Amino acid sequence: MAHAHHRKIMERLGRRMSPQKVSEELKRRRTKIRFHRITDELVEDSPEFFESPEFKRLRKNSQVRGFIRDFWEWNEKVLWLLNSTSHPYIELQEQLAKMVSPYLGETLVDLGCGAGNFCARLFETNGHQVKKIFAVDIDWKSLSQVPQTLKDSGYRQGVALVQSSTMSELPIWNNSADCVVSSLGGIMYAGWWFENGEIVCDSKKALLRCLADINRVLKPGGYLAVSSPGPNPDWGAVLRDSLWYLIKNFNLKGLYRALSGGFKAKKLSAFMNQVEQEGHAHYLSVDDWQDLLKQSGFELVESSSGQYYAKQGVIVVARKI
Ligand SMILES: C[S@@+](CC[C@H](N)C(=O)[O-])C[C@H]1O[C@@H](n2cnc3c(N)ncnc32)[C@H](O)[C@@H]1O
Repeated sequence: MAHAHHRKIMERLGRRMSPQKVSEELKRRRTKIRFHRITDELVEDSPEFFESPEFKRLRKNSQVRGFIRDFWEWNEKVLWLLNSTSHPYIELQEQLAKMVSPYLGETLVDLGCGAGNFCARLFETNGHQVKKIFAVDIDWKSLSQVPQTLKDSGYRQGVALVQSSTMSELPIWNNSADCVVSSLGGIMYAGWWFENGEIVCDSKKALLRCLADINRVLKPGGYLAVSSPGPNPDWGAVLRDSLWYLIKNFNLKGLYRALSGGFKAKKLSAFMNQVEQEGHAHYLSVDDWQDLLKQSGFELVESSSGQYYAKQGVIVVARKI
């Protein structure tokens, strides 16, 4: 667990518990995933999250640690900007939400949920049957924003905050989820696969291991829905489309924000192309997705390519067979 967050929780618990009880409570929290119920009450500023033991181990690998750090910085400086000003980004979320909404059930897993904006959009589109969300991300700071984002969308059910990754087995039971989603999220970054803290494979083989693990977590007949850019994405095109949309709609406030943060955002996104070139990020065509999904026990039920996200967006929805 991140130190600042850990300290805050200890301080809060220490106000009402003895030191021994605090350490027992912290141990319990480390070993058990807890669901928060989103209510009308104020959201805690440092909500409890579960850090998977495997994630703790894989963070020690220097290559992966660098990747995680790059993403933490990107989330802090870019994610909010895209979610608030980028039409191509928001449109891709909307399309994924529309395409997956007929296949939702009570339990949803969001891999690479960031601050929870995709789940919120899904709830606004048609997510009213969802009662439990496993919000999974490598970044605890983004995870801690999820309850507020969900509350603002009107969601009033359960959410578990899970710091884990698509690079090792998910801390989620077999055959338990109705649907797994990943909106420009963690599935694209299943670039290494870890067991007991050691890399056992990388590149496409790692993605196959991740897809097999998602298959394990899904109930029979459950669905997986993914959005991603196609091969070799041009982030400049996403920025240009974002700015053009704001100009066309006279959104001057948004334009100011996008102009002041957009070029930095493009620079901070460069690591994403680098990890792709090294084979550790998967920006795939629909045909490639179909092939890998088939090998991992899925059948493709719907797809879209080149329509959204500055004509670079790919969406696939697949069913566990
Ligand atoms: C582009 S953001 C998308 C966030 C959110 N899904 C949305 O639609 O706004 C990608 C997210 O995936 C997370 N991520 C990256 N690699 C991951 C991995 N291997 N496993 C889990 N999450 C990961 C990042 O921390 C980030 O929050």
